[in-house]
Amino acid sequence: MTSNSQAAKKLYIKSYGCQMNVYDAERMSDVLRPLGYGLVDTPDDADLVILNTCHIREKAAEKVYSELGRLKFRKSDRKAAGKQMILAVGGCVAQAEGEEIIRRAPYVDMVFGPQTYHKLPEMIARAHRGTGNVLETDFPADSKFDHLPAPEVREGYSAFLTVQEGCDKFCTFCVVPYTRGAEYSRAVDDVLAEARRLAASGARELTLLGQNVNNYHGLIAGGGEWGLGRLIEEVAGIVGVDRIRYTTSYPAEVDDQLIAAHKNVPELMPFLHLPVQSGSDRVLQGMNRRHGADDYRRLVDRLKVARPDIALSSDFIVGFPGETDRDFQDTLDLIDEIGFVQAYSFKYSPRPGTPAAVHELQVPEDIKSERLKVLQDMLNVQQRAFNDDCVGRRFDVLLDRPGRHDGQLIGRSPYMQAVHVEIGPEKLGEIVDLEIVSAHGNSLGARLATAENTEGEIMETRATG
Ligand code: 5AD
Ligand code: SF4
Repeated sequence: MTSNSQAAKKLYIKSYGCQMNVYDAERMSDVLRPLGYGLVDTPDDADLVILNTCHIREKAAEKVYSELGRLKFRKSDRKAAGKQMILAVGGCVAQAEGEEIIRRAPYVDMVFGPQTYHKLPEMIARAHRGTGNVLETDFPADSKFDHLPAPEVREGYSAFLTVQEGCDKFCTFCVVPYTRGAEYSRAVDDVLAEARRLAASGARELTLLGQNVNNYHGLIAGGGEWGLGRLIEEVAGIVGVDRIRYTTSYPAEVDDQLIAAHKNVPELMPFLHLPVQSGSDRVLQGMNRRHGADDYRRLVDRLKVARPDIALSSDFIVGFPGETDRDFQDTLDLIDEIGFVQAYSFKYSPRPGTPAAVHELQVPEDIKSERLKVLQDMLNVQQRAFNDDCVGRRFDVLLDRPGRHDGQLIGRSPYMQAVHVEIGPEKLGEIVDLEIVSAHGNSLGARLATAENTEGEIMETRATG
């Protein structure tokens, strides 16, 4: 987000967790701009501080309380100087813990859930009146999207666009259905209007967001619905949109139309985050996932037929209650077979209110740690091997930010790898044909592809058929 220290009032937002929180923070800033709030980069002198929180694992939630502890002193320093700092907790911890936050940190002025931030102006007015802490954690009957202002024309070549929110899957480990609420898809026209605005303001890459984004079913004007595959086709037709991604997907709901989009829409990048969580059918059943390990394998096969160069990323949980060595081995076997180019992996973290938290066969912490290490070592080897294989290949890279030093820019390959290149600043925002010359654990080095280095092998980043 761009900061604006000239505004009448200073707003600091710190986002934790997923990309939807990044998107939400931008929308909060849009809601507050007409009230004179401009974003700043530090909470030090802010009139309003919002912690936009994540409740997915215990660690994520505890970080919020540590940050609140630090902010308490800033708030009292400001008070001593005769100034006010409104301290707010938004996002999923706010939704899940509600009043508990005010009990543990009574100096917090406002606690509001992810479905209520269109009401921020009203909440701030109440906080200013000083009539006690403001708590907004209902799921309103009408959607916040109907009340939000059109997003600000923004800088940035890569933008998030929420198309779907919430989850009805109730995986037994997960808090999301409780914090984000039921699945909801935004209407097609609203999504397309926002996509056009983003493209007009310079975004060349759009990432369509949703907790179960592939179960998108948006209403179209005049009746009927579109799924995600159809939506992607339409977004691809918007002038200025060169690249499309979507996240996060639920394997059991990937339909034929979405798979066809991977074949037919060149703007759709050949990289997919498709969380599997475990390779053991027993564990997947305990998790209430609606797919088995073989369903996942078959799905990957179908995706590869549609788009042979597709690369996959995933999420894994180790030490889910009842997970045995055999179950864990099934997960390693699945990883070995599929090959992931990126992954996020976690020790199971019992979340209050979720069914798995009260399961009697909790896995001891030391076993979870051991399994996580084995799993991450294997995933790191796969990621590194994929990066090494990229050396000598040519990719179209969207150069979307300056590098660490002058004369360097950083971009994203079609496969989401960060790519560093020595190149002039005038190339910022361009999609440039680069030759990969070095590979690292998490990034690639590149140089401009020229006539001399185009000879020899040229790997297309597009599938041919
Ligand atoms: N413990 C550990 N990991 C979790 N995730 C969600 N809930 C938990 C939990 N209770 C992980 C899943 C999910 C990702 C966003 O976070 O892998 O896909
Ligand atoms: Fe959580 Fe499962 Fe919904 Fe994903 S699909 S948000 S893991 S409940």
